[in-house]
Amino acid sequence: MRILLQTANSNADEWRAAFAAALPDADITLWPELPASVDYVAVWKPPAELFAKLPPARAIFNLGAGVDAVLKSPTLPAATPLVRLEDGGMAAQMIDYVTLALLAAYREQRAYARQQREGLWQPRLPLPKAAFGVGLLGMGVLGQAVAAALSPFGFPLAGWSRTRKAVPGVATFAGSSELPAFLARARVLVCLLPSTPDTRDLLDHRRLSALPRGAQIVNVARGDLFVDADLVAALDSGHLAGATLDVFREEPLPAAHPFWRHPAIRMTPHVSAVTLIEESVAQIAGKIRRLEAGQTISGVVDRVRGY
Ligand code: NAP
Ligand code: GLV
Repeated sequence: MRILLQTANSNADEWRAAFAAALPDADITLWPELPASVDYVAVWKPPAELFAKLPPARAIFNLGAGVDAVLKSPTLPAATPLVRLEDGGMAAQMIDYVTLALLAAYREQRAYARQQREGLWQPRLPLPKAAFGVGLLGMGVLGQAVAAALSPFGFPLAGWSRTRKAVPGVATFAGSSELPAFLARARVLVCLLPSTPDTRDLLDHRRLSALPRGAQIVNVARGDLFVDADLVAALDSGHLAGATLDVFREEPLPAAHPFWRHPAIRMTPHVSAVTLIEESVAQIAGKIRRLEAGQTISGVVDRVRGY
């Protein structure tokens, strides 16, 4: 079997070694080399040229959970199944990141940092947890893993998804008609939605205004889910108290972008849950074995839904 691999140049050899160990019979080629025939392709943000030149393949594996970049490729073969990563070691990382941001918000770390800069010894009363609702936008693989991990902390949890979910301990909301009620109870809004035609620009002035005053944002999904100018305006007006942002419309974030220097924004460079080579290759190799045995696999992207 022939596998074509396209990854960041810096770690391509590690990926190749992991695939070779997991699938010893496979013949692995690193893009931009291109064999005459290809059975499976594994890509991350592939150049249009790759799909334009690709011989017919049995499946395309995305080396990440979000497939928005691949789906935007004008040369993506229409009929080849596109398969995304499902967790693959990312859920544990998301849990760490979101828990840190949530507890920093609940324990008022920004206010204490400001007080320290100002030399103020000023204890604050603990915030009642029952009034500190956490809203998870997206209740898929990562959203549900984060919800389960947050459950022992005792915050009222709510989740929003396209289709209705039944998750113990989580108030669930579905569809655009239930979005306002979901937003109204989120003191911390954690975004774990895919970027699709339905979700891009979802968090605009109207939706941000539906959050309670003093709410905080944690965006670990995609930058284009939020309207940047509306987010800055909501922070400037004091309606929102802070935002922790890991993802941006343009990455790296341009130097002149107002997020860089905004006092209420904390940023990280798209690291909340990185693709782990061993875990990802084990998952993809397992799916390739199933396909070779004529079995079905999970994680196949619905091109119409966009995720
Ligand atoms: P997933 O399993 O596909 O879950 C997506 C969730 O979003 C599902 O609950 C889905 O609803 C919901 N959803 C999609 N479109 C919706 C809509 N129009 N209205 C309401 N809900 C909608 O994806 P995942 O594995 O959890 O990953 C989520 C996203 O996280 C990825 O797409 C990626 O962009 C991002 N991500 C970021 C990083 C990072 O390092 N920053 C790492 C990994 C992933 P249903 O359940 O009803 O289908
Ligand atoms: C990373 O952003 C991913 O989608 O896996």
